Amino acid sequence: MTEYYDVEAVRKLFPVVKKMTYLDSGFQAPMSTPVKHSIEVFIKESYETAGPKSVWLERVDAARCKLAALLNAAPEEIAFTKNTSEAMNIAANALPLKSGDNVLMIHGDHPNNAYAFLNLKKKGIDIRCIPMTDAINGDAFRAQIDENTRAISMSYVTFHAGHRFDIESVGALCKEKSLYFVIDIMQAVGVVPIDVKKVGATFIGSGTHKGLLVPQGLGLLYWDRARTELEPVYLAAISLENPPADFIARPDDMAPASTAGRFELGNFNLPAIQGLTAALDLIADVGIENIQAHCFALGDKLIAGLDELDIKLVGPRDRSLRAPHIYVAALHAEEWVDYFASKDVRLSPERDGVRISLGMFNTAADIERLLEVIKERRNSHSSRAA
Ligand SMILES: Cc1ncc(COP(=O)(O)O)c(C=O)c1O
Repeated sequence: MTEYYDVEAVRKLFPVVKKMTYLDSGFQAPMSTPVKHSIEVFIKESYETAGPKSVWLERVDAARCKLAALLNAAPEEIAFTKNTSEAMNIAANALPLKSGDNVLMIHGDHPNNAYAFLNLKKKGIDIRCIPMTDAINGDAFRAQIDENTRAISMSYVTFHAGHRFDIESVGALCKEKSLYFVIDIMQAVGVVPIDVKKVGATFIGSGTHKGLLVPQGLGLLYWDRARTELEPVYLAAISLENPPADFIARPDDMAPASTAGRFELGNFNLPAIQGLTAALDLIADVGIENIQAHCFALGDKLIAGLDELDIKLVGPRDRSLRAPHIYVAALHAEEWVDYFASKDVRLSPERDGVRISLGMFNTAADIERLLEVIKERRNSHSSRAA
């Protein structure tokens, strides 16, 4: 038991912890037993009866409702996509931008967000980047806005250093200046509470294989349904308000759906969406605020341990600027990642060090193990040098 929830009970749902110290949820969440079970139900149904599809589609809508609840959106504002990249591309291409307009971004933000907008350069749209700092907020963008600025696109939490930017003040700036606001929440969702209405987002995009705990290949798109002028670039029958019941396309009736379904194309990733339902139930049971608080507490312990070892933290230290669950220690990745793997400690190499990323199942013992393993190597090096 921790202060926030019964982490030992949660841990039992993530068998990966028996094999290794898993500190890599920022790369991919390990599969939990409820998610595995949910996907197995789909496999059994698919294997034995190839359906019924109507039941599967009801479950898609159930997952959509749960996702909407997590983000404080309406279910009609949530579309399923393949991943973050697809969501960001849908968003970038739905904005009514014309040659000479400009979009503001952050230099060094995730490439899957950046390329969706950089690709608009060929239509004459200018993409301008502000420098990455520890504290991006509305004021950081304000001076760059001119009469041709139409949108801001940015990540909420950075993958490479665990910044958690002040999207509320950026959203307020977008409202003040009548700009569209697009947010990549891939590294935040499932750990950091997000209220899309409070933030004033036009679109948000994400995949589901990190904080949302399912395998790769499923994403989401939130669309502010008040923005009816934003239409999809691609169309399929399910994107329409009136899909033809007889399956004969009607060129005179192609109005997009009044829901975020307008951005959906064809059939769904049904097994992953079924897994997502179980993951969202687990997150709701534990409580997103509790997950955040638990990760912050582990992060405090990690920072104190790194300080003791005189290892620099690459991203921000302050809780008001950092994500609860992503930390980069300034250790040369090339020298350290294989060593950690040899000690069954799983983490990721990053731009400026090694990334330790936490999930709801991590404990203080995981942090202690990481610090112990760093000490062991240092001690063996210094005894060899002596
Ligand atoms: C901020 C951010 N955006 C997007 C992605 C991934 O994009 P996609 O879901 O398209 O693979 C990642 C990491 O995988 C990320 O950290």
